Amino acid sequence: MTKTIGLICGSLRKNSYNRIIAQSLTEMNDSHQFRWIEINELPLFNEDLEISVPETVTSFKSAIQDVDGIIIVSPEYNSGIPGVLKNALDWASRPQKSAVLSRKPVGLIGATPGGLGTAFAQLQIKQVLEAMQVHVLPFQKVLISHVHKKIDFDQKLLTDEPTKRYLQQYLEHFIHWIDHTPALD
Ligand SMILES: Cc1cc2nc3c(=O)[nH]c(=O)nc-3n(C[C@H](O)[C@H](O)[C@H](O)COP(=O)(O)O)c2cc1C
Repeated sequence: MTKTIGLICGSLRKNSYNRIIAQSLTEMNDSHQFRWIEINELPLFNEDLEISVPETVTSFKSAIQDVDGIIIVSPEYNSGIPGVLKNALDWASRPQKSAVLSRKPVGLIGATPGGLGTAFAQLQIKQVLEAMQVHVLPFQKVLISHVHKKIDFDQKLLTDEPTKRYLQQYLEHFIHWIDHTPALD
């Protein structure tokens, strides 16, 4: 069955490498739909705002609710999770008993011009998602190092064939994961 997959980019940068990687996923599989879930307009999380939840937060949560699974594609900042992404995940974790991300299948991808492929950030993201009882795709890791050498920056395209093949395989695993997560509940 056709799946709708939400894409969250952990970078707000216009020319983000991670956004280029996320965009490349949308071109890898015609049988499924992809939908961007933007986090740039979310206010800084503050419990006081929950008294009257801002519209940007409500639509962000509905966007999460409306997809079958989410792939987060994120950089690493100072060996950790980018603040904007943590902020979005905190919003998505509330209210705790009916959190939209709870039980949602989620995949993690990270890209960096550096050599460690965002490994530290992914550990932190996974820790946060596990606290929210998210079904993170197990075993598979996508750590894209030296990303600047793997894309055509002018065309904003992933060009490195091994990375493309690996991502394609990851996407297939993720789609199977979406079908299998109900058995975990
Ligand atoms: C505040 C800051 C901290 C960074 N820390 C790391 C880091 O710990 N590890 C790493 O691989 N790259 C780090 N970088 C470099 C980012 O990987 C690089 O800027 C990357 O292009 C950001 O992702 P984007 O292109 O999707 O925006 C850092 C960049 C910034 C701005």
